[in-house]
Amino acid sequence: MARLLAVISAFAILSTSQAIRFLGRVNPTTRELTWPATGLSFSFTGTSASVGVTSISGTNSVELLIDGGTPIIIANIRKRSETVYGTFALGDVKIFRGSLGADSVSRRRIQIIGDSISVGYGLDGTYPCTNSAFLENAPKTYGALTAKSLSAEYDILAWSGIGLIRNSIGSNDPVLMPQLWTRYGTNDEDNSYTFPRAETPDIVVINLGTNDFSYLNIRDPVNATMFTDGMIAFAETIRSHYPKAELFLTSSPMLSDTYPTAEDSQHTTHVSVLKAAAEKLGSKAHVVDFPTQGSEVGCDYHPNAAEHEKMAAILTSAIKKVMW
Ligand SMILES: *[C@@H]1O[C@H](CO)[C@@H](O)[C@H](O)[C@H]1NC(C)=O
Repeated sequence: MARLLAVISAFAILSTSQAIRFLGRVNPTTRELTWPATGLSFSFTGTSASVGVTSISGTNSVELLIDGGTPIIIANIRKRSETVYGTFALGDVKIFRGSLGADSVSRRRIQIIGDSISVGYGLDGTYPCTNSAFLENAPKTYGALTAKSLSAEYDILAWSGIGLIRNSIGSNDPVLMPQLWTRYGTNDEDNSYTFPRAETPDIVVINLGTNDFSYLNIRDPVNATMFTDGMIAFAETIRSHYPKAELFLTSSPMLSDTYPTAEDSQHTTHVSVLKAAAEKLGSKAHVVDFPTQGSEVGCDYHPNAAEHEKMAAILTSAIKKVMW
């Protein structure tokens, strides 16, 4: 009985205190971890803690970080994989023979909006490989690493194959990023996200275009004017919620000036449409050029861990030039 009394069941605390908090965009009603790198953080003193899982679908890979400090232990759980492989919902957090501590929350926040690159698709694989939940690693993506180097909280809103005005060739999914972005969890209804004040980002990174630009033997090359207009429209929607945010529009390390053809010059074309959009968006919009990646890649030619580190260095320095 004494032991039972020493157990705190702590999820109810979430709404009133920061002692336990979600990481990333998590719907507090469903507690479902859908978006990449969503999770939970808490600190405690005590002998052990447990985190319940109330429902689970598919396969998921998860990163668990425990700082090993004494007497206060900080535990951090983040989903590494994306919705398409599976999701799960969090239950109660229980602390055994101890108590929860205060959590420290950075006042800086970055939101990364993107496709498979921002998901961390195939990041832990070596080409050739078949992507899986276990080879995706959102907490090691350029977005997560940039947030870490700026000591910022971060949300990754990303989905493999997604585009700004059209999805990847071969995709039958009608949902484009501006629509998916309005959802709390990826499985929730459109417009379910409530834009809580505490989750307002200072910086929004948009890394889209890789899938819009794909076309070979299937469809026409993307219309550059339509892509630019789509970017401006999406950025304006984002700004209507986050008027103070600085926007960083990034090129894609997966687009090159030689493939599929030199005439296409896809990398250069992408950068120039981003610049055209940024110019219309004004002084709070910036273009970040991630160079075409090297020959060592992850699954299906996706950036590997080393490439993500390079991208993080570029993005971090671009952000530092503008702020902080
Ligand atoms: C691109 O789209 C614009 C606007 O819809 C249209 O006026 C233009 O003709 C298109 N360009 C091409 C090459 O299809």
